Amino acid sequence: ARLVVLVSGSGTNLQALIDAIGDDPAAYGAQIVAVGADRDGIAGLERAERAGLPTFVCRVKDYSSRDEWDAALAAATAAYEPDLVVSAGFMKIVGKEFLARFGGRFVNTHPALLPSFPGAHGVRDALAYGAKVTGCTVHFVDDGVDTGPIIAQGVVEVRDEDYEDGGAALHERIKEVERRLLVDVVGRLARNGFHIEGRKVVIQ
Ligand code: GRF
Repeated sequence: ARLVVLVSGSGTNLQALIDAIGDDPAAYGAQIVAVGADRDGIAGLERAERAGLPTFVCRVKDYSSRDEWDAALAAATAAYEPDLVVSAGFMKIVGKEFLARFGGRFVNTHPALLPSFPGAHGVRDALAYGAKVTGCTVHFVDDGVDTGPIIAQGVVEVRDEDYEDGGAALHERIKEVERRLLVDVVGRLARNGFHIEGRKVVIQ
């Protein structure tokens, strides 16, 4: 399968995919054909370049409306003819055009156990609520914010000392689980094929 991976930050989830694919995309079942971002100068793009992967950047401020940005992102992604699109720490909500083209094959990873704590601050919000366990969710993207069908989840315990650093260490522990989960899920989707029955994701 052909993957386009979208990033906004440090790109450790992207790196985990790059490392898992290594030099044997056939064994993993997928290859990354391009990495897209919504901003320049991020470590995620450097990781892509170091791996020799094509990159593209679509910045919201370069377009006159959010819809135009969304259409440009959809076109830039479509140019690489992906079978699956992976949002790996991509911190933008895509719009109608992107979902029309890639809905049902657009995977996101979120650092909380959905449906708890959706949105941009899943780690901080779980701590603020006083949750004793949290984790990560790999899910398909629909037109809501972190509301699409869940593919897999991983659990991470909250420790008392997590309240002292605002969640930084907790997020690191979540990301360790998240990277393994994302690599596992994307590989299985790519190798086995899948279908979505309402809320239920079936990997063949
Ligand atoms: C991940 O925890 C992702 O779920 C979140 O931001 C983090 C991205 O990490 N929304 P990285 O850029 O893959 O290192």
